[in-house]
Amino acid sequence: MDILVVGGGGREHAIIKAIKKSPLCGKIYCLPGNGGIASDAECVDIGAKDIPAITAFAVEKKVDFAIVAPDDPLVLGAVDALAEKGIPCFGPNKAAAMIEGSKAFAKDLMRKYGIPTATYQTFDNADEAIRYISDQNSYPTVIKADGLALGKGVIIAENFEEAKNAVKSIMLDKAFGESGNKIVIEEYLTGVEVSVLAFTDGKTIKPMVSSMDHKRALDGDKGLNTGGMGTVAPNPYYTKEVADACMEKIFLPTVQAMNSEGRTFKGCLYFGLMITKTGPKVIEYNCRFGDPETQVVLPLLKSDLLQIMLAVSQGTLSETEVVFDNGAACCVIIASGGYPQHYEKGKKIDFGDVRESDDLLIYHAGTKLDKDGSLFTAGGRVLGVTATGKDLAEAVEKAYKAVEKISFEGSFYRKDIGKKALAVLQR
Ligand code: AMP
Ligand code: GLY
Repeated sequence: MDILVVGGGGREHAIIKAIKKSPLCGKIYCLPGNGGIASDAECVDIGAKDIPAITAFAVEKKVDFAIVAPDDPLVLGAVDALAEKGIPCFGPNKAAAMIEGSKAFAKDLMRKYGIPTATYQTFDNADEAIRYISDQNSYPTVIKADGLALGKGVIIAENFEEAKNAVKSIMLDKAFGESGNKIVIEEYLTGVEVSVLAFTDGKTIKPMVSSMDHKRALDGDKGLNTGGMGTVAPNPYYTKEVADACMEKIFLPTVQAMNSEGRTFKGCLYFGLMITKTGPKVIEYNCRFGDPETQVVLPLLKSDLLQIMLAVSQGTLSETEVVFDNGAACCVIIASGGYPQHYEKGKKIDFGDVRESDDLLIYHAGTKLDKDGSLFTAGGRVLGVTATGKDLAEAVEKAYKAVEKISFEGSFYRKDIGKKALAVLQR
C-alpha cells in the first residue's frame, strides 16, 4: 500500500518509522516532512494546512491510505476532503476533531455526559469574563483560548492582574487570532499529569502505553511552556487502579458521548489527564497523537501500526491486536537556543558518532537537508532522541548518552527528563 502522511515533525517521523516495519507498507509520501524524514519517505513541499493541494496530491499519486497527524488539518477537515475522493484515512473527520478544535465544545461535552473535568464557565465577552474572575476571587485560575493555539492558549493566572491581562490578550489583542473569540475559565486542578493516547474506531477503544510529558523549557519544570521538551513511557503514576477508573469514567464515556452527538471519533484520541485526590480528571482532549508522546509510545508498540490504523478506519479494531513491550522509553528533545521564544535557524547539526540502532531512534522535528546531505536546524524543537530499555533507568541513561554527543550552535536540552518518574519508581 502506498501511504500519505500529512505533517512534518518528530511525531510524524515516529509514525513513519513505525509503519515502515509493516509488511503492508509500500511507498511513503510525507507532506511537507523534514530533513530527517527525507531518509524514510519522499517529502513534498506541500503545507499541512493546504487541504486542496494535499487532496490533489493524494489523488495524483493514487495513494491507498492517508494518515493525517497534526491538529490543524484535522480540524480544517482534511479527512473529509480525502474521503470525498475515495481515499481512506487514519484520523477523525472535521465533526469529531471539534473535541480539540473547541475547548468550549469539549467542556460542554464533558458536563453533559458526566465526564470528570475541572468546573468552568465559557465567555465570548471580555468584560463579563473579567467580572466573573473578580467575583470568583480564587487563584490560581486557568484561562484558555477556545480554539487551536499551537499548545500556547492556556494561561494559569496567579492573581487578578494576571487573569485580567490574560483575558485582554486573548480576547481583545487576539494573541491567538480567531481562536480567542471565546474563552474558557476553569478551576485550577492539582495532582499529577498523565498522557494517554488511545486508538478508537468509535466502537472499541484500546489505550496505548501511558506517558509523561515535560512541558516547561528548563530543568525542574521552570521556564516557559513549550510544545514538550521530553517524554517517558510508561508513566509510573498511571497504576492499574487509575487505568481502570479512566476506562470506566473517561475513555468509554467519551467514545459514547461523541457517538451520541453524531460525531463518531475514529483515530487517535489523546487524553491529557490530571490524577487528583478525587480521581482522574480530563485536562484536555487532543484529536491526534501527541508530540513528543508519540516518540516514546510507538517505539514500545510490538503490534503492526499500519494494520491497527487500517482497522481503526475500517471499524475492526476489536479484532486487532494492540500489544506493547514491557520495557520503557525516554525521549529528550534538543532545541534551538531561545526556544520557545525567538531562536535562530540554519545551524549545522553535528551528530558526533551517534548512530541509530534497535534501541536508539533519532526523530527529526525542525531539520532541513541541504544539497550535499548535511542537516541544518529549521525550527525550535530540532531533534527527539528516544532510547528504549528494559526499565526506565536504562532508557534514560541511553538517551542522554546519545544526546550529549549531538550539538549545534546554541543547542540546549533538559537534563532531567525522566527524573520525576524515576523518583516515583524508587519510592
Ligand atoms: P493544555 O494545553 O490544555 O494541555 O494545558 C497546558 C498545561 O496547562 C497542562 O498540561 C497543565 O499543566 C496546565 N493546565 C491546563 N488546565 C489546567 C487546570 N484546569 N488545572 C491545572 N493545570 C492546568
Ligand atoms: N505534547 C502535548 C501535545 O501534543 O499536545
